[in-house]
Amino acid sequence: MKQQEHLPLASIWKLFKDQLRLLNFLSYFLLLGFGLALGVLASYSLIDSKSLISHVTQFCVSTPPSPQPLPPPPLVTPPIAQPLPGPLPLPPLLFTPPPAQPPPVPPLLYIPPPVQPPVLVAPFHDGIGTKVKPKAVKMMGDLELLQKASMLPRIQKLPYKEPPKVAFMFLTKGKLELAPLWEKFFKGHEGLYSIYVHTNPSYKGSLESEGSVFEGRRIHSKEVKWGGFSLIEAERRLLANAVLDVSNQRFVLLSESCIPLFNFSTVYSHLIGSTKTFVEVYDDRTSVGRGRYSRHMYPTIEVKQWRKGSQWFEIDRDLAIEVVTDNKYFPLFGRHCKGSCYADEHYLPTFVNIRFPWKNANRTLTWVDWTRGGPHPTKFLRPYMTKELLENLRNNGSTCEYNGGRTTICHLFARKFLPGTLNRLLKFAPKIMSFNP
Ligand SMILES: *[C@@H]1O[C@H](CO)[C@@H](O)[C@H](O)[C@H]1NC(C)=O
Ligand SMILES: *[C@@H]1O[C@H](CO)[C@@H](O)[C@H](O)[C@H]1NC(C)=O
Ligand SMILES: *[C@@H]1O[C@H](CO)[C@@H](O)[C@H](O)[C@H]1NC(C)=O
Repeated sequence: MKQQEHLPLASIWKLFKDQLRLLNFLSYFLLLGFGLALGVLASYSLIDSKSLISHVTQFCVSTPPSPQPLPPPPLVTPPIAQPLPGPLPLPPLLFTPPPAQPPPVPPLLYIPPPVQPPVLVAPFHDGIGTKVKPKAVKMMGDLELLQKASMLPRIQKLPYKEPPKVAFMFLTKGKLELAPLWEKFFKGHEGLYSIYVHTNPSYKGSLESEGSVFEGRRIHSKEVKWGGFSLIEAERRLLANAVLDVSNQRFVLLSESCIPLFNFSTVYSHLIGSTKTFVEVYDDRTSVGRGRYSRHMYPTIEVKQWRKGSQWFEIDRDLAIEVVTDNKYFPLFGRHCKGSCYADEHYLPTFVNIRFPWKNANRTLTWVDWTRGGPHPTKFLRPYMTKELLENLRNNGSTCEYNGGRTTICHLFARKFLPGTLNRLLKFAPKIMSFNP
């Protein structure tokens, strides 16, 4: 009985509870739906503002990089805090697209896709015959220059059975004070070399005397800041000019403080005969190596691919063309290697390490003295320019790998030699370096 009495009450209670549960469930459901809708809306507006940001950065180089949604790569050393770009407007990057055209991707660099002309056209050629003084370099803006360079075929034969040439590319601030030494070096070897000079546009003085090997060899140049991205833009400008002459098979970057350590024939045959390119490449895991890597470069460049090395390179034609037409890594450096990143010490070593590790000797042929520490290498003044120094730089008893064997020639060039050393160099050159026999 008692149970019977209780039964209806209990069932009513149960029914009520069930309805309550349903109501609860429904309200949860509504809340969930509302939350979902809110989330979708929010993410849409986020995407919108992101794409807006990226559109803005496409046109304004100096805008700080937008945060990347990519997961940060494992860092061995934390990157050092980069100084803010500050209000200083950055110099315009190399090869910006013409304003009339729609913005191409990648935005910082406009390179038309490489076409492969079947035959080489004559206008690219610099000299006819071997003993003819080269014509002056054509002054070309970055865009025209790069369009021309990117049209060059990757593999080509030298026309007219001409000997290959070495392109000596001088990246200078102003006057080439050691030019008289270089004049002696080149004398009598016309047809085996080309010279290109990139000088800061602010330098208005003359570069050379009449009849000099440097006459008419100045290329269209732009302002260069020490350690900045403009430095590798200038290197690229030099390379782009030099690859236009199909006879150029080796490319050497030099500064105004560089000197040759051997005579022309030794330098020439060492470079032309080498199976390897000479770009210094090493992995520095400290703050002045991997610490300069920016995680915004991920995943195109990973921190374990990041390399360091001297700016002064000796490369072959294939690599030169690859550098000139690189529209993947170069613009990435333009965006993310600023301030204390020092693009000149990282761009080419990282590029070579990723793309051509097998063909590189990983060392430079340009000697420099870092033993005294600090951010700058030793500068040699007149008193230090001795016969012993020169002889020691040419051969100090150690050997280096060359085409599978060993050679006593580890360096072909050396820096940094100040103008005061010129007279002694001119005096020693004929005897020690057997210039002009
Ligand atoms: C260049 O120097 C080498 C020694 O380094 C010498 O054997 C050679 O005869 C020199 N060549 C010329 C053309 O002077
Ligand atoms: C240079 O380093 C690369 C790795 O970056 C390596 O594959 C190559 O064998 C090295 N070259 C020489 C000559 O040691
Ligand atoms: C020769 O010079 C190289 C670097 O230029 C150095 O690493 C090496 O220790 C030197 N060798 C001798 C025997 O002094």
